[in-house]
Amino acid sequence: MSAPEFDLVVFGASSFVGKLLCRYLNERYGAAGGLTWAAAARSQAKLEALRGELGPAASGLALIDADAADEASLRAMCERARVVVSTVGPYALYGEPLVKLCAQTGTDYCDLTGEVQWIRRMIERYEPAARASGARIVHCCGFDSIPSDLGVLFLQQEAQRRFGAPCSRIKMRVKAMRGGASGGTVASMLNVVREAAANPALRKELANPYSLCGPDAGKGVRQPNVNSARWDEDFGAWCAPFVMAAINTRVVHRSNALQAAAYGADFRYDEAMLAGRGTKGRLAALGITAGLGAFMLGAALPPARWLLERFVLPAPGEGPSPQAQRAGFYDIRFFGTSADGRSLRAKVTGDRDPGYGSTSKMLGEAGACLALDLPKSACAGGFWTPATALGNLLLGRLQDHAGLRFELLEA
Ligand SMILES: NC(=O)c1ccc[n+]([C@@H]2O[C@H](COP(=O)([O-])OP(=O)(O)OC[C@H]3O[C@@H](n4cnc5c(N)ncnc54)[C@H](OP(=O)(O)O)[C@@H]3O)[C@@H](O)[C@H]2O)c1
Repeated sequence: MSAPEFDLVVFGASSFVGKLLCRYLNERYGAAGGLTWAAAARSQAKLEALRGELGPAASGLALIDADAADEASLRAMCERARVVVSTVGPYALYGEPLVKLCAQTGTDYCDLTGEVQWIRRMIERYEPAARASGARIVHCCGFDSIPSDLGVLFLQQEAQRRFGAPCSRIKMRVKAMRGGASGGTVASMLNVVREAAANPALRKELANPYSLCGPDAGKGVRQPNVNSARWDEDFGAWCAPFVMAAINTRVVHRSNALQAAAYGADFRYDEAMLAGRGTKGRLAALGITAGLGAFMLGAALPPARWLLERFVLPAPGEGPSPQAQRAGFYDIRFFGTSADGRSLRAKVTGDRDPGYGSTSKMLGEAGACLALDLPKSACAGGFWTPATALGNLLLGRLQDHAGLRFELLEA
């Protein structure tokens, strides 16, 4: 078989985050540099407008007409690509046909989904096909869940070096972050809450920290979960629930399961936001907890959801301004302890806002890493996590090109 025409195709190039990704690839590689790439969407007019916005250097950028509801168009796109990167979401509504076709055609795939129930469905339905065809499917290649998944890998590698054993307990805490949400992210979150409100079995599945692992993972282990304001002795601060913990913890546990429990069969992990010290910190933690609870309740109740969608939240296609993206950043901390009581600290920082400015760079590097750094002989087909498929190769790319830093701190 001849080599595919493109290393990478961006499907959903007209989405808010898809446009940012195309801008990033254009700046980093041009229209046909070290990585050959093309932009795909269902609207030719939007694709042409995007190519115009990218400037004269992108005048040769190939455009591909593909619709998530038209399998023939998706198959034709897959056959032209080594890797398809999808930003067409909510994935639970539009994503399945593309995952199926990538699994069938042996095309590598990555995306930005944070929808646990959908990922689980995709694994159940298409893992055998992906293994047979050699397609490497890597979900969650944005702020959820790359900094968490690679941050834990980074800390565990250091624990192995220093202690000869992994940390059996790791806490991830968001020390600071600045950024906003896009319409697509909001639509995906509302869709999960809507599905869960109508389905008790799904609520149970979403509450299971091992929902992306095999049936035997975590037997007899009680996972910690920060679901209210509480004092954290290890960080000397109040902490509050972190909205992305619901996906990130599942991805980290899947990474452990895919590495034959390299972090330990009884590995425990949670995520939270640091809110500060003293009365001010406690009030902030209570405020974050109450705000998150109110949002979830509003999203679950149809009239309140309608009001949120209509008057409060960004619409599909909208998101933080370029200034807000540039002013954004994040700083997340990890604290690990080994079974014999030794400890390690690390931090992961990123420039730009987490959900868009930084996410688009992480997604671009994840796609490029799959296409250029990881021959099929080095990683078999199947459903992987960022840490298990791309690991240190991606970590290096993120530090060299995408504004992330992974650092050890004095314990
Ligand atoms: N993991 C993270 O950190 C992270 C960060 C950001 C975003 N996300 C996720 O990424 C996804 C995209 O977010 P966004 O804000 O960029 O979304 P958005 O601007 O609302 O864009 C959604 C895209 O889906 C496309 N689409 C819908 N139906 C389609 C179909 N049948 N065929 C082809 N394309 C179709 C739309 O095409 P048209 O332009 O033609 O309407 C649009 O381009 C969301 O699921 C969001 O949750 C995740």
